[in-house]
Amino acid sequence: MIPLSLHMGVNFMVSTIVIGTQWGDEGKGKIVDLLAKDADLVARFNGGNNAGHTVVVGSKTYKFHLMPSGAIQGKQCLIGAGIALDPKVLSKEMSQLENREGLQLAIDPRTQIIMPWHNALDNAKETSKGDGKIGTTGRGIGPCYADRASRTGIRFCDLVDSKRLKEKIDREFEAKEKILKNVYNTEMPASKEEIFTEYNALGKEFAKYYADVSKEVSNALKTGKNVLFEGAQGTFLDNDFGTYPYVTSSHPTAGAIFTGLGIGIRPIERIIGIVKAYTTRVGEGPFVTELEDKIGEKIREKGKEFGTTTGRPRRVGWLDLVLLRTSIRLNGFTEIALTKLDVLTGLEKIMVCTKYECEGKTCKELPADLDKLAECKPVYKEMSGFEMDSSATSFDQLPKEAQEYVAFIEKELEIQAKIVSVGPGREETIVR
Ligand code: GDP
Ligand code: IMO
Ligand code: MG
Repeated sequence: MIPLSLHMGVNFMVSTIVIGTQWGDEGKGKIVDLLAKDADLVARFNGGNNAGHTVVVGSKTYKFHLMPSGAIQGKQCLIGAGIALDPKVLSKEMSQLENREGLQLAIDPRTQIIMPWHNALDNAKETSKGDGKIGTTGRGIGPCYADRASRTGIRFCDLVDSKRLKEKIDREFEAKEKILKNVYNTEMPASKEEIFTEYNALGKEFAKYYADVSKEVSNALKTGKNVLFEGAQGTFLDNDFGTYPYVTSSHPTAGAIFTGLGIGIRPIERIIGIVKAYTTRVGEGPFVTELEDKIGEKIREKGKEFGTTTGRPRRVGWLDLVLLRTSIRLNGFTEIALTKLDVLTGLEKIMVCTKYECEGKTCKELPADLDKLAECKPVYKEMSGFEMDSSATSFDQLPKEAQEYVAFIEKELEIQAKIVSVGPGREETIVR
């Protein structure tokens, strides 16, 4: 089938997926806000408030954890069944929006709800692991998805129905209290009655947003509407294909839009991989190009690399094309958006990892068995540094060396960077 957009010779009605190519925090929020201008709907399909997506408009900075980043553009926002939803966080987050009253929000009845015992379990499990911890965000994400898989989760359709909510809390509270007490020697954070009262009120607050998101998105696609799919986390935090076990509990890869929203498989015209011009990761796990020196510190400071959700300093390293090649394969990107190029300003030279050396062999993609990753050594291409600010509005206004950096990445990855971001603000973007 020829996409409608091609028939018409224009590029509206093009549905787009935005995905993190690395370990999260690539600048997805900024790009989603930018693209949301032309979208009819913006939908989240994975993760929960472990995500922290920043949007800077003029002098105002918004930090979204659950609300799709299209909210500021006044677009219809959808939360799919694949999300782990903490209603307390969503309620707080909505209060920062000026357009709260007119907000068009839809929450799928099948969405899993994060309950207080999920946060308690997340933290208790991490503490019990000591040095072996994952470094989770502590937001209850893992235990919530574990309950989904165990078929004991509380869903949005339960939250909005007082009788069902009470029954489910009665059942789950006791089971989780036993685990917290007997396995982790810790307490439930609140009584059963307190939890019911608080969550019952949240159910009432959110009841008006109850909608079959699966049907809404399917119909939107069928009628040629422009749907923007906002990924959370990054490809190497994927529960299957990431650096397991140092991953999250959902699928941040493009394929998850179908299962996370409940839509049939169909081609999506634009699949944009968001690539930070260097690499960061929060929490534990392997990181081949990590910089634990003054250059790393300089990039961390310049790039303000401190977690949007937890405030933790992000680990920093050079750009890793081995990761990105693998990411392109896992997601089927049609293009990339390169962000934070401006952060590299002032460095004498910039290194790019083009391949790994592993047990005498060359590796151009991430090994499937991550025990091998510990043996991998990065092979770098040295590039000239550059001086730039956030003022360039076209590619040819960038310093020659910055253009060469982008061109090298494109050539190595055989993909075009159609968006180059040179600052946090909406306008600080080059669209090619
Ligand atoms: P996300 O989780 O992928 O949405 O990314 P975060 O919001 O957690 O982190 C990205 C950070 O970089 C935010 O503070 C953004 O405002 C900022 N940012 C995004 N693009 C650029 C850019 O091109 N240059 C600079 N300097 N900052 C950027
Ligand atoms: P955005 O959408 C960066 C990381 C955590 C930890 C691991 C597991 O802002 O890019 P979890 O709480 O999910 O069980 O933690 O995943 N992590 C993120 N890192 N950006 C994110 O989201 C992340 N979401 C989870 O730091 O290492
Ligand atoms: Mg983030």
